Amino acid sequence: MFTVLILTIACTVTHAEIVQNANMESLSVAPWHCHGCTASISNDSLNGKQSIMISHRRAGWAGIEQTVQVQPNHNYFFNVHLKLVNLVPGHMYHHISVKFKYTVNSHVHYVRISYSPMQQVSFGYQEIGGDFHVPNGVNSITIYIEINEAGANYLLDDATLQEITPNTNWKAEAQARIEKIRKAPLNIKIENHDNADTSDFKIEIKQVKSSFAFGTAVRADIMMDQNQKAYHDFVYNNFEWATIANNLKWRLMEFTQGHPIWNRGIPALNLLRSKGMKVRGHNMFWGVQHNCPKWILNMTSSDLNNAMHARIHGMMLHTTGKVEHWDVNNENLHGDFYEQRMSNPNITMKMFEWMRLQDKNMKLFLNEFNVVMDSSATTAYRNQGKIFKTSGVPIYGLGVQSHFHSVPKSIDVVKYRLDKIAEANLPLWITELTIHEVDENKKAAVLEDILTLYFSHSSIQGIVFWGFQDSSIHDHAAALTSNDIVPNAAGRKYQELFHKTWRTNEVHPVASTINAKGFLGDYELTLLHQNTVIHTENFTLDNNGANPTFHIRGTGANVLLLINYELPTDITD
Ligand SMILES: *[C@@H]1O[C@H](CO)[C@@H](O)[C@H](O)[C@H]1NC(C)=O
Ligand SMILES: *[C@@H]1O[C@H](CO)[C@@H](O)[C@H](O)[C@H]1NC(C)=O
Ligand SMILES: *[C@@H]1O[C@H](CO)[C@@H](O)[C@H](O)[C@H]1NC(C)=O
Ligand SMILES: *[C@@H]1O[C@H](CO)[C@@H](O)[C@H](O)[C@H]1NC(C)=O
Repeated sequence: MFTVLILTIACTVTHAEIVQNANMESLSVAPWHCHGCTASISNDSLNGKQSIMISHRRAGWAGIEQTVQVQPNHNYFFNVHLKLVNLVPGHMYHHISVKFKYTVNSHVHYVRISYSPMQQVSFGYQEIGGDFHVPNGVNSITIYIEINEAGANYLLDDATLQEITPNTNWKAEAQARIEKIRKAPLNIKIENHDNADTSDFKIEIKQVKSSFAFGTAVRADIMMDQNQKAYHDFVYNNFEWATIANNLKWRLMEFTQGHPIWNRGIPALNLLRSKGMKVRGHNMFWGVQHNCPKWILNMTSSDLNNAMHARIHGMMLHTTGKVEHWDVNNENLHGDFYEQRMSNPNITMKMFEWMRLQDKNMKLFLNEFNVVMDSSATTAYRNQGKIFKTSGVPIYGLGVQSHFHSVPKSIDVVKYRLDKIAEANLPLWITELTIHEVDENKKAAVLEDILTLYFSHSSIQGIVFWGFQDSSIHDHAAALTSNDIVPNAAGRKYQELFHKTWRTNEVHPVASTINAKGFLGDYELTLLHQNTVIHTENFTLDNNGANPTFHIRGTGANVLLLINYELPTDITD
C-alpha cells in the first residue's frame, strides 16, 4: 500500500507544468510579457482558439518572455511552438534562439538554450527550445526568444516547461529494453530418430556478426600502411563497420578543381570491404565554409551547381555498391554555405534528390553535432528530419555525432535529447562517438553508461566511434588505446561489451530442445562429437526468432547425419 502511494505521487510530480498560460488561451497575454515589442492575441492557432502574436520588435533582442520559479541545480526542458509570420527583405529564412536570463548579485547572466537556424515561413508552427541546467543559487529565470532581425514577427502557441527528473532506475530500464529489442528467441529442436546416445555431443551457438552496427572511423593512410598491423587488427577484431575519417571529404580530396585524389580514400575503402567491413561514406558536402574547397567559395550559383553535380557523379562512380551510407550535407544546421551561395533555402534537400537519382539503394543521412552533447541543435535537428521526411526527401536517417567534449553530467538529459531526436521518426546512427575524459577508469564507466543507453534505444541502429588510437585521433583524451594499440580501461570496457555482454556464444548439451535467446545477428550453429565438428549451419537471427531443427540419424561409432531445417527425401522416415 505504502509503496503504491509513493509511486503515484512521484508520477504526478513529473508532469508539473511550470509556465503559466502555457497554451496561450487566456483572455490576456499575461504572464507572458513583451520586452521591447507588442504582444497581442491572434486567432491563428496550432491548438485551441488562439495564439500570441509578437510584432513591432525594437531590436534583435526584443521579444516575448516569461519569468518562472525553478530549483537550483535541477534540469528542465522548455519548448514552445513558433510560427514565423514574415521574412525581413533580403532573407530566405531566420535563425531563432531561445535563451534565459537570471540575476546573481545584480549581475545579469544570459544562457542560450537552443538555436533553430534557417526557419522558413512555410514551415508553420515549429517547436523550438531544449533542455537546460539551472545554476547553483538561482530560483527564478526569465525565458525569452531572440531573432536577430527586428522586423521578423511571429506567433507563439503551446509552450511547456517541466523538470527532467532524475531516474535512478535508468540502467535497469535500459537493460530491460536491450533484452526486449536486441534479442530474439532461438529454439533449437533436435530429432534423434534412432535414439542415439548423445552424451558425447554438444551444440555450439556462435554469433559471428551483430545486426546492431559497431564501428570506428579509421585513417586511410594508416590502413594502407603495411607497418601498422596492430591498428588493422584492432579494427578488424573489434568492429564491423568503418568510416574513412577524412579522405572522402571534398575539400581534402579536390584541392584543385577537376583533380580529385582517388588514390587515398578509395583504396582504404576497398581494403575494408575485402575484410568484410561495412563502410559509411563521409561526407559528400559540408556547408561549414572553412570545410568547403576554397575554389567553390566565390563561384556563381550556376558554376557551383555544375561543380556539385560533378562531385556527386565522380564520387558515386567510385563508391556505389561499396558504401552503405552517405552523409549528404554534413552539419547543415551549423553551416549554410550552399543555401546562401545557391540562393536556395532547400538546396540540401536537392542534394539528397540528386544523389538518389544516381543510386536507388544508398542510405542517405544528415549528420549533426550539439544534439546530444548539448541541446542547442537537438529540437532543430528533430524538426529538420521531420520536414525532410514529410517533404518526400529521400532521407534514410539522422547521424548523431556524439562528441562529448566533457563527460555528460546527467544521463537523464542525454536520454531526453535522444528521445527528442527520435520524434523525427527516422533511424538514428551514432556516427562519431568520442568521450573526452583524461581518467581512463572514469572514461570506461561513462562509456559503459552511454553505450548502454544508446544500445537500448529503439531508434538507434548503430554506433560508430570517431577513432580509437591516441596519436591518430583529434581528441586524445577520447582514446580507447595507446599509440601502440594497447587498450586502456575504456577500450577494454568496449571490448567486453562488444565481444561478451552483447554477443551470444553458448554451448549446450544435446537435448530434445534447446531454448536459448540470442542477440540479433548472424550465427554459426555447430554440432560437435567429442570436440570434432560434425556439422555447421549458418543462419540469421532476426526479430522473428529462429527455430532450426537438427535431425540425427544412426547410432554408435558410425554416427550421425545431421541436417538442419528439413530432411532430404532419402532419409525421411
Ligand atoms: C481571424 O482574424 C482575422 C483578422 O482579424 C479575421 O479577418 C478573420 O476572419 C478571423 N478568423 C476567424 C476564424 O475568426
Ligand atoms: C573570394 O572573394 C573575396 C572578396 O571578393 C576575396 O577576398 C577572397 O580572397 C576570394 N576567395 C577566393 C578563394 O578566391
Ligand atoms: C522548401 O521546402 C519546404 C518544405 O517542403 C517548403 O514548404 C518550402 O516552400 C520550400 N521553400 C522554397 C523556397 O522552395
Ligand atoms: C558459414 O559462415 C562462415 C562465415 O561465418 C563461412 O565461412 C562458411 O562457409 C559458411 N558455411 C555455410 C555452410 O554457408
